Amino acid sequence: MRGKLLQLLMKTSNTFISGQEISENLGISRTAVWKHIEELRKNGYQLEAVPRKGYRLLHTPNHASADEIEALLTTNKIGKNIIFKNEVTTTQELAHELARNDASEGTIIVADQQLQGKGRLGREWHSPPGTGLWFSLILRPDVPPQKAPQLTLLTAVAVTEGIYEAAGIEAEIKWPNDILIDGRKTAGILTEMQSEPDRVQAVIIGIGLNINQQPEHFPDELLSKATSLSIAKGNKIFQRANVIAAILGRFESWYYQYLNHGFDQVRKRWEALAVTIGKEITATTVTKTVKGTAEGITDDGVLLLRKMNGEIEHIYSADIE
Ligand code: BTN
Repeated sequence: MRGKLLQLLMKTSNTFISGQEISENLGISRTAVWKHIEELRKNGYQLEAVPRKGYRLLHTPNHASADEIEALLTTNKIGKNIIFKNEVTTTQELAHELARNDASEGTIIVADQQLQGKGRLGREWHSPPGTGLWFSLILRPDVPPQKAPQLTLLTAVAVTEGIYEAAGIEAEIKWPNDILIDGRKTAGILTEMQSEPDRVQAVIIGIGLNINQQPEHFPDELLSKATSLSIAKGNKIFQRANVIAAILGRFESWYYQYLNHGFDQVRKRWEALAVTIGKEITATTVTKTVKGTAEGITDDGVLLLRKMNGEIEHIYSADIE
């Protein structure tokens, strides 16, 4: 409800909107309107209130709060149930717990800060407060467990397109699921699953996106490898809720295309956005290092690498240079 109020205030922010108009629009009493306005003020929104004119939004804090995401969201299902926490160990853990307790498809868990953010392959994911987007999305697709990796690739497409929509930046995908700007990582995706042998119960997609970090926000070991939307755009500060709303919008559109028509279009779009395809690369797996040309991906998201001797090697998990 407060998200809807915020949406009205955002739309009319160059003029005033009366308490009466808000109450009619949202179907709530004038007292309820006033209470929600007070709550928004407590959360850092600056609102002017003038007798006989109404309310006007003067300043929006840069929160990726539930109210603000709700206000900006254009989807029907994805992100419609939002759980926001100032601080968590990791949004993945909370998402798993909620999924086990029947949370609905499209539920998102967003945190301002993660104390134990998780990356792929057991790595740590640096998730400081006030800067990026750290969230997990619960899905319940009717697909066999072995197809779940396709959703990681679909997510990479949605994040890349969402970045373009919200920030006008052309990011690229590096196999399997890193999002790069100017060769540096700006986002990562971690897909986890709750499943029976032949049926997925829930897929938990974790997305970490560096948005407003400046170089001093990154630990030394990440400085040469990581970037943020802000760094890429001359220190511009982005409204974080706007970025998540754009990503969820692109996600919803691809997700239903995928459920209704299969993986083919997603794969084509992924290949078009992937920096890896057609390039000479070195893949370091746990057991070996293989050099060759990245030819494409299979329907399972496996990278096809053509070696010098012409043979095709299937790469399931590796670091790519
Ligand atoms: C990677 O590239 O290694 C994947 C990074 C995934 C990070 C996100 S942030 C939100 C969610 N919660 C976590 O602890 N990890 C994922």
